[in-house]
Amino acid sequence: MTYEDLKGKKVLVTGASSGIGLATAVSFSKQGCFVGVHYFRTEKGAKKALRQVKKNAGGMLLRADVREECQVNEMVEQFADEAGGIDVLVNNAGTMIERQLFESASVAYHDDVYATNVRSVFLVTRAALPHLKKSRGNIVNIGSLAGHGGGGAGSGMYSGAKAAVALETIAMAKEFGKYGIRVNSVMPGFIETRFHKMFSTPDRYEKVANRTPLGRNGTPQDVANAILFLASEAASFITGEYIAVNGGLLMRA
Ligand SMILES: NC(=O)c1ccc[n+]([C@@H]2O[C@H](COP(=O)([O-])OP(=O)(O)OC[C@H]3O[C@@H](n4cnc5c(N)ncnc54)[C@H](OP(=O)(O)O)[C@@H]3O)[C@@H](O)[C@H]2O)c1
Repeated sequence: MTYEDLKGKKVLVTGASSGIGLATAVSFSKQGCFVGVHYFRTEKGAKKALRQVKKNAGGMLLRADVREECQVNEMVEQFADEAGGIDVLVNNAGTMIERQLFESASVAYHDDVYATNVRSVFLVTRAALPHLKKSRGNIVNIGSLAGHGGGGAGSGMYSGAKAAVALETIAMAKEFGKYGIRVNSVMPGFIETRFHKMFSTPDRYEKVANRTPLGRNGTPQDVANAILFLASEAASFITGEYIAVNGGLLMRA
């Protein structure tokens, strides 16, 4: 799918060193966008993503821990300076860190999950906002199916954090509408990335695929396709909405 209006746009993708973010960065580059390939720990993955981006269009590497205010502010300004502004922000960086039950979880774990998945969205969005106001751009946040259903054992706090991302997407859409900025989210289901290599057992892959109406697990490209649509003019009257990319695992009336 080609979105002519995306050509030349400046797109910042957080967490682009792996999985969904990597596929999203490369997909935007195929539309002719200048892409900010953000990472934190996985430099090798980020370099691989940038190599793929540069086969299609311009781009740059950006490093920051998205939990840290100063690092985020510097990273966003570095991108805006080099790119000449920001048109699209994809708040994708996030992780469950590990599985911990409410019964026994540590306060440090709780706070880290919320810092990684929720504070991060706030910090990057706030830093990018002056640039998005100028471009009347848009934001796509990455939520999760877990944020609607509570997730599996040990993912309760991650689920709560992703529910916050879903709700804050709506609140941001209300607040930023007056600037002509749209804010939407994508709610992935079970997507085969490093995330599930870290947090799911091999038999879970098959179990989830078997109870998914479309009969398979998702790919990073499945999610990237929905992100591109929401970022494009094809979605120009859509804001505060989410697209579920889950093969029918959770449907709504
Ligand atoms: N896979 C799924 O089934 C699924 C389902 C629902 C939602 N999601 C969400 O989709 C997003 C992408 O996940 P994925 O499946 O593609 O997982 P992934 O392959 O593990 O990628 C996670 C990305 O987030 C970045 N990240 C994590 N903590 C960070 C931090 N403190 N500072 C900066 N960057 C950080 C990682 O960067 P570094 O490695 O460079 O540190 C990496 O690029 C996440 O928000 C995840 O919660 C995934």
